[in-house]
Amino acid sequence: MKVTIKLSGHILFPDLTSMPDLKPYVRAIEQLKGRGHCVFIVVGGGEPARHYIKMARENGADESTCDQIGISIANLNAKIFSKALGDLACPFIPKDFDELEKALATGKIVLMGGLQPGQSTNAVAAVLAERSGSELFVNTTTVDGVYSSDPRKNPDAKKYKKVTIAELEKILDSSGVKAGEYDLIDSVALKIIRRSKITTKIIDGRDPMNVLKAVEGKEEGTIVIP
Ligand SMILES: Nc1ncnc2c1ncn2[C@@H]1O[C@H](COP(=O)(O)OP(=O)(O)OP(=O)(O)O)[C@@H](O)[C@H]1O
Ligand SMILES: [Mg+2]
Repeated sequence: MKVTIKLSGHILFPDLTSMPDLKPYVRAIEQLKGRGHCVFIVVGGGEPARHYIKMARENGADESTCDQIGISIANLNAKIFSKALGDLACPFIPKDFDELEKALATGKIVLMGGLQPGQSTNAVAAVLAERSGSELFVNTTTVDGVYSSDPRKNPDAKKYKKVTIAELEKILDSSGVKAGEYDLIDSVALKIIRRSKITTKIIDGRDPMNVLKAVEGKEEGTIVIP
């Protein structure tokens, strides 16, 4: 199966002081390859991106400059994860669509970070899923699925097993649109998922093995109905 995976930056790069442990995710990706799947990856910005965005904003940067800083950090995160993957990974991180074409032609695992101000790395992942012809888009995050509202702010929020794009748009209506604050998934990503009818799963990425479960249809997160 062709599968695009958005790896949560918050999970892979949770802080700026300690060394990230990328090995468990490398093992999960190796297992997916070992089972014959064709894998495409987008790595999010995580805490380093939020830190640099905050520094920029507090020093007067406009939102698209803050986005650009987040994009640069996500690209660095993708580069670091590509090094952890070694020979399996395409040796460069595509920064535009011509580079993406060249990366896809290598037949290796293509990794991306950010692309364009005004959107999140989830949107990059949706575009990569579309461009690579992925049958599945697995979106890993720091919670175990989609809730009726942000479960970190509202303990009474209810978890969905399935959600339509229209429902998701309503739920995420109050989500952020600022650099570093796009939260779970943004409207650009939803538009791509809808127009290309990409089967999408939002799952708990805190256990890397959940990615394997999602590909095998055994996940416990939320399925987005395109
Ligand atoms: N309706 C919702 N259901 C689930 N989570 C939500 C919802 N609304 C907001 N969230 C928040 O979205 C967060 C996940 O998005 P966030 O961008 O913080 O992390 P990430 O996407 O995993 O990391 P990164 O953006 O660095 O790759 C969750 O921790 C949760 O607090
Ligand atoms: Mg995010």
